[in-house]
Amino acid sequence: MLNEKTVLIIGATQGTGLEAAKMLRKEGAAVRIFARNIPKAREVLDDTVTIIGGDLRDPKRLPEAFEGADHLIFTAGVTKRPCSEELIRSTEFEGMKWTLEAAREAGFVGRIAFLSSIGVTNPNWASRLLNKVKGNALKWRLAIEDLIRESGFDYAIVRAGYLMNSVSRKQISLSQTEFALELRYRIGRKEAAEVLVESIRNPQAGRKTFDAVRKRHSNGSEGTWATRFAGLKEDEIVAAETDE
Ligand SMILES: NC(=O)c1ccc[n+]([C@@H]2O[C@H](COP(=O)([O-])OP(=O)(O)OC[C@H]3O[C@@H](n4cnc5c(N)ncnc54)[C@H](OP(=O)(O)O)[C@@H]3O)[C@@H](O)[C@H]2O)c1
Repeated sequence: MLNEKTVLIIGATQGTGLEAAKMLRKEGAAVRIFARNIPKAREVLDDTVTIIGGDLRDPKRLPEAFEGADHLIFTAGVTKRPCSEELIRSTEFEGMKWTLEAAREAGFVGRIAFLSSIGVTNPNWASRLLNKVKGNALKWRLAIEDLIRESGFDYAIVRAGYLMNSVSRKQISLSQTEFALELRYRIGRKEAAEVLVESIRNPQAGRKTFDAVRKRHSNGSEGTWATRFAGLKEDEIVAAETDE
């Protein structure tokens, strides 16, 4: 029951993270957010949401953000493109490193739901183009996934399709297909937020990495979230090599 939980969201001032924050508040969960632009956060979220001001590139207050947090949803990332590789690395990769360190410091034991992207494996022309204009974003996103998988924390990694603002009544397919980055594999930000929220609610999503895209053709019921997550396999974690 998430209405008895406190969820920390990093990346909640807009897009998917904002949708997740609204969804969680609607069902009565306590929401804390870590945001660098407090006035903007206040404008889009009501005052029941606790805001801890801070930047992923200057994360002094990250440990404070974890106080009392049962779970974390992480959707933060560089929005603008083109952008430099240095901005992607310092915001997203280093930002996740700081986040994991802060979680350890705070004694966090919950699940981390991370918004990743299709195309981080299985390269094609579109992923190469995106990497070129957006500082190797997909390469860094895969490196972030590895940080999380190897962190020892419980997690769910959601590889969302192309994010859209539109809403659709199409069902969402969860799979471990490892889709290439193609426009036909898409998902609404609200739908991606729902997958993230369900992936912290359902124990069956733990230690799994999976694609989430809109189904192009619906063919009957998809089943409950619990059965859908249960149908995915757990990641095999290959421990990092150590020098003997
Ligand atoms: N576009 C796609 O098709 C696609 C597909 C899959 C995944 N993704 C990735 O998914 C993530 C979410 O995408 P979205 O479109 O829903 O959200 P978005 O509109 O890109 O919002 C990103 C969020 O990250 C925050 N942020 C950025 N830099 C930060 C920093 N240094 N410190 C703290 N917060 C910071 C932003 O805060 P501010 O308001 O302060 O800027 C904002 O709240 C992005 O990383 C995106 O690249 C994208």
